[in-house]
Amino acid sequence: MRLSIVLLPGDGIGPEVTEEAVRVLDAAAHAGGHTIHRSTHPIGGTALRSHGSALPESTLRACFDADAVFLGAVGDPAFDRSAPAQRPEAGLLALRLALGGYANLRPAFCPDGLIGRSAYRPDLVRGADLLVVRELLGGLYFGEPRAVDLEAGTAHNTMRYERWEIDRVARVAFDQARMRRKLVTSVDKANVLETSRLWRATVSAVAADYPDVTLEHALVDSCATRLALAPRSFDVILTENLFGDILSDQAAALAGSLGLLPSATLGGRVPLFEPVHGSAPDIAGRGAANPIGAIASMAMLLRSAAHLPHEADNIEHAIREVLSAGHRTRDIAGPGDAVVTTRQMGDLVIAALAEVAERRHSYHGV
Ligand code: NAD
Ligand code: IPM
Ligand code: MN
Repeated sequence: MRLSIVLLPGDGIGPEVTEEAVRVLDAAAHAGGHTIHRSTHPIGGTALRSHGSALPESTLRACFDADAVFLGAVGDPAFDRSAPAQRPEAGLLALRLALGGYANLRPAFCPDGLIGRSAYRPDLVRGADLLVVRELLGGLYFGEPRAVDLEAGTAHNTMRYERWEIDRVARVAFDQARMRRKLVTSVDKANVLETSRLWRATVSAVAADYPDVTLEHALVDSCATRLALAPRSFDVILTENLFGDILSDQAAALAGSLGLLPSATLGGRVPLFEPVHGSAPDIAGRGAANPIGAIASMAMLLRSAAHLPHEADNIEHAIREVLSAGHRTRDIAGPGDAVVTTRQMGDLVIAALAEVAERRHSYHGV
């Protein structure tokens, strides 16, 4: 098959992790005889510097013409004092809005190779495997009006949801749950927020169409504690934009690092794939970034945009094998562990991929 993807490496460690994800993509696609056409475009701080806009028109046009978009990360401390609309992050938010993907899928689990290495007790994380379905185009992120007056010392944002926005993302969560352990935990703050009352009512109504899936409601504050104390009790967590942003970063701690989590944004004109982490300015340019979140995002791209589930499975197996064999970038290394660079981690995944593909090939006898 022929696939056309747009790469948006972005800022900080974005280009470093994107490079490794692309090398793994090439290895996986090549093994399967598939052609991937790709082009690279600026976004975020990089684009602000080169084009004066965090999302240049040319970048957006290329994304619209692609089968899938892959983003590294945006964010640059040089723009920390800029107004929200002039920040690198504005480019990503504008891209999400333009592409129209409303369901952001963020899977989190603790790979066997990392059990005992994360901050969590092994008996708590063993077997934990959950999926955060984050609503991505509503809530406080996009609600109007919004403003800040630093002189006057006033600011406001608007949290707004309409039934159709909740309905459509809820259906994605229930569909996902059907392919998993059939439990949806809808997370809100219905004891305080009107938007959450609408959220709860809408999700409950959608549940009627999924009698085979169990729905429970949870308040976001106690849900955060449950995520730490009983992560195995979750299957699919369905929640609004800001709660999902926060809970998914917390879920990354199950595996031990933000650098491990991938994401896919579905439902729009073109699907978008990006690791959950940001531009990590504290480690950028040093070859210290963990590329696994980016590589796993590429696997999600192969599965849901390219319809190449075997290639995606192979990459995910390869990642698990590399971690089980004890290979560690600095973020997941324990005392005394040898530390590999971003590039070396990419090489290790590619080597493991060749072995996984070969094994599956002989197993299936084809
Ligand atoms: P961050 O995710 O960039 O980093 C948080 C911590 O995790 C840092 O200590 C960092 O070194 C570490 N980390 C993150 N990714 C890692 C990786 N792949 N390997 C090893 N360690 C990793 O979050 P932050 O520091 O709060 O934000 C930095 C910038 O990134 C901000 O400008 C923020 O707006 C932006 N951001 C962008 C995205 C995105 O592009 N999707 C996501 C989150 C944050
Ligand atoms: C993420 C990021 C973004 C978000 C920022 C950079 C706009 O934190 O992808 O999780 O808040 O959605
Ligand atoms: Mn985030």
